[in-house]
Amino acid sequence: MTTVPSMMPVVEVATAGGPEGMRLGRRPVPVPAEGEVLLRVAAAGVNRPDVLQRQGSYPPPPGASDVLGLEIAGEVAALGPGVAGLSIGAQVTALVTGGGYAGYAVAAAALCLPVPRGFTMIEAAALPETFFTVWTNLFERGACKAGETVLIHGGTSGIGTVAIQLAAAFGARVLATAGSDAKARACERLGAVRGIDYRAEDFVEVVRRETGDRGADVILDMVCGPYVPRNIAAAAVEGRIVTIAVQGGAHSDVDFGLVMRKRLTLTGSTLRPRTVAQKAVIAEGLRRHVWPLLEAGRVRPVVHATFPLGEAAAAHRLMESSAHVGKIVLTVPA
Ligand SMILES: NC(=O)c1ccc[n+]([C@@H]2O[C@H](COP(=O)([O-])OP(=O)(O)OC[C@H]3O[C@@H](n4cnc5c(N)ncnc54)[C@H](OP(=O)(O)O)[C@@H]3O)[C@@H](O)[C@H]2O)c1
Repeated sequence: MTTVPSMMPVVEVATAGGPEGMRLGRRPVPVPAEGEVLLRVAAAGVNRPDVLQRQGSYPPPPGASDVLGLEIAGEVAALGPGVAGLSIGAQVTALVTGGGYAGYAVAAAALCLPVPRGFTMIEAAALPETFFTVWTNLFERGACKAGETVLIHGGTSGIGTVAIQLAAAFGARVLATAGSDAKARACERLGAVRGIDYRAEDFVEVVRRETGDRGADVILDMVCGPYVPRNIAAAAVEGRIVTIAVQGGAHSDVDFGLVMRKRLTLTGSTLRPRTVAQKAVIAEGLRRHVWPLLEAGRVRPVVHATFPLGEAAAAHRLMESSAHVGKIVLTVPA
């Protein structure tokens, strides 16, 4: 059995703002509370919300670690009181409310899922944030079903690459937008029947053409702002529009006459502030419906690049360039 050290490396945000404000520091290893486990972090996923938190515009919820990092993969190093069903040495991937950019992190046992067979720790670390988000928004809220047409915005983002693959795996017909022709083609390689370079084409027109004027049944949107009326125009009767980010602005003018005539549902959600019990329901859905697809090799996270923990700033620069297709992951040496 490996002993747990008292101190560990962490990435700290010394100055909110640019990536250069992050630095490698040392902090005490956290102690797992009731229902939690301590993981020795092997790899940690980088997500857009980490960038927003670093910039100072997305503070951690009360009680969460101020250290960045919402998803990790690693080995269970210690069990908190009341944990059953997980043992020391188990290899898991976990959704955390913070603290992932570190040598060790605590995670709720209910939010740990096994590293899928055949997956590296890097691939496993790329799973939780995007899969929890896509499952709860596209399938639970958006009620995406086989045979429906789904429009995924931000198709080459970490979230988008998973949304395309999962929607296609569940039998939906996927259209996806991205900011260049090369990225639109990458969406098609992931399973979209049509990638749309939104800088060169009007996605509303393409959706109309591709659906014989019917529109998309489900739209997963991470832009909002000016996209809202365009999404409403691109939606089918009884369509569901699910907003998961407001990168283009949180406000928009909505023609509710059209919302009524099309009988649309406009919805959205955030993941991080939900309770452990609420997230555990999503974890169960993933374990039952999605983990078998991962283990069968039908869906695979796309890892664009990895960086050592000490180079978190370079990882953030890459994410902010939007040149990536898929996930960026930090590795933590033993
Ligand atoms: N609601 C939730 O529960 C939840 C959970 C996790 C993440 N999110 C959000 O989901 C989004 C994707 O997250 P991620 O980690 O997958 O991020 P990511 O890989 O960095 O993807 C963001 C994508 O958004 C596209 N984009 C479109 N308009 C943009 C704009 N005005 N500014 C910047 N990018 C723009 C970019 O692609 P193009 O260059 O091709 O446009 C980029 O690929 C983020 O906005 C994140 O905050 C929401």
